[in-house]
Amino acid sequence: MLSCNDICLDYVEATRVTHALKGVSLDFSPNKLHGIMGPSGSGKSSLLYILCGLKSPTAGNVALDGTSITNMSDAACARLRSQKFGFVFQQPFLLNYLTALENILVGINPDQLSASVQKAESLLSYLGLDGMGDKYPSMLSGGERQRVAVARALIGNPDIVFADEPTAALDKDNGYKVMSALADWAVDHTVIVVTHDADMLKGADVIHHLIGGCLVDDQPSNVR
Ligand SMILES: Nc1ncnc2c1ncn2[C@@H]1O[C@H](COP(=O)(O)OP(=O)(O)OP(=O)(O)O)[C@@H](O)[C@H]1O
Ligand SMILES: [Mg+2]
Repeated sequence: MLSCNDICLDYVEATRVTHALKGVSLDFSPNKLHGIMGPSGSGKSSLLYILCGLKSPTAGNVALDGTSITNMSDAACARLRSQKFGFVFQQPFLLNYLTALENILVGINPDQLSASVQKAESLLSYLGLDGMGDKYPSMLSGGERQRVAVARALIGNPDIVFADEPTAALDKDNGYKVMSALADWAVDHTVIVVTHDADMLKGADVIHHLIGGCLVDDQPSNVR
């Protein structure tokens, strides 16, 4: 299980300190879709990047199955991320000169390429993109591109998927499709989604609310 304990984050600029997170403690139980909601500037992205080890907190600790990742070396943390974590961002960040299939496979070890091609094709199918593997990003809709980005996040079979506003650039229908794919993944993995759109978290198991860098509650949502 991923957990964080008393996370604080200060952004220090020349004449200003922003206390972005003020003592956040949370457990992210496995096999659940966790939503993190809150207004703009409440610290959602900062918390997400600390949870996945891409950012160091000013104080506090993040642990995965009891092992601190906050104190890991950069190399050990990078290895952990590549083995156990997947990421989906607000924009899909696909490479325009690669097909959808090639984009999904971009981080794959060449030794595992042939098995991964089959897996990428089944992920495309799982995400409702059957037969679209040979299309270039410019030939896909925004929602389709974002689902390719979800497939790229899932290709390594990550235990935990982190998604920062994955539906913010999409219309509602495409947003629901992306969230539905993430909810399916959460049946036997952990998924953590940051959003300010409550509609997108209708399928979440738990919603954590952040305001001004503080967790204001941790209430069960409309449980699947
Ligand atoms: N690099 C930075 N330097 C200084 N302050 C920062 C930096 N990044 C974020 N902040 C500040 O930290 C606070 C939290 O930012 P964060 O990006 O985590 O919020 P958020 O909840 O993700 O907002 P949004 O919904 O707009 O994405 C904000 O007040 C923001 O201005
Ligand atoms: Mg943000």
